[in-house]
Amino acid sequence: MDKFNFAVNLVREAQLIIKDKKDKFTYHKKTNNSDLVTDVDILVEDFISRKIKERYNKDSILGEERNKSFNEDSFNQWILDPIDGTLNFIHQGENFAISLAYYEKKKPIFGIVLDVISDDLYYAIKGEGAFYNDNKLEIQTSKPLVDSIVITSHRWIMDGCLEKFLDKIKSVRHLRYYGVASLEICYIARGLADLYISAKLFPWDYAAAMIIAKEVGLVAKNFKNKNLDGFIESEVVITSEEIYEEVFN
Ligand code: 2AM
Ligand code: CA
Repeated sequence: MDKFNFAVNLVREAQLIIKDKKDKFTYHKKTNNSDLVTDVDILVEDFISRKIKERYNKDSILGEERNKSFNEDSFNQWILDPIDGTLNFIHQGENFAISLAYYEKKKPIFGIVLDVISDDLYYAIKGEGAFYNDNKLEIQTSKPLVDSIVITSHRWIMDGCLEKFLDKIKSVRHLRYYGVASLEICYIARGLADLYISAKLFPWDYAAAMIIAKEVGLVAKNFKNKNLDGFIESEVVITSEEIYEEVFN
């Protein structure tokens, strides 16, 4: 598929830009002390959007830093996070990703997530399965909740956002948190953990990874059993149907 190959090449070009700037960036606060943006986020969003517009001038782009006013009625829609895990980029210089999803008439076509430093590439094309470094990922089967690993943020637990589900969450084997939603969801798709919970994500944080997770048989829902389409700010749960039922219904 031409458009998919174009998108993977574009993400690879953006990877080089980010690696080149990794030790020479500036940042500032957006809304609060944990909401930061660097000049590299903006540079990369501008680069990817410009290239998409040059090649596909009718397409619309929803992006975290520059493209928030997005044409909902457009047939061809891209959802972009130039750097997902900006705090990891700033503080650790690793564990961050480029996330790019493509939809037609609000139906997912493909999703790409690239771990910029480890070079792990995740992608899915709707109906053709999901891939991790070009190896097809297996359909994920469910585990008993007691044998499961949960990925969620300490912040959601400290802030009481998961209060209603804590009895169930306490029964799991253990918890993990990496600070990069797109990769965390890809880890569920790979079977490295079994349940991902966020009390709030934006479309650019999860749209691409959600396409990958759904291709391996996982569900993507809010806390109230509603399936997600990737276009709204929402609570996000990625897991098997069985684990979802046990924790949230
Ligand atoms: P970002 O790095 O692109 O901002 C961190 O837990 C994960 O959640 C990252 O993927 C981060 O994306 C995202 N995130 C950070 N702050 C957020 C907020 N206030 N609301 C929703 N998602 C957020
Ligand atoms: Ca971001």
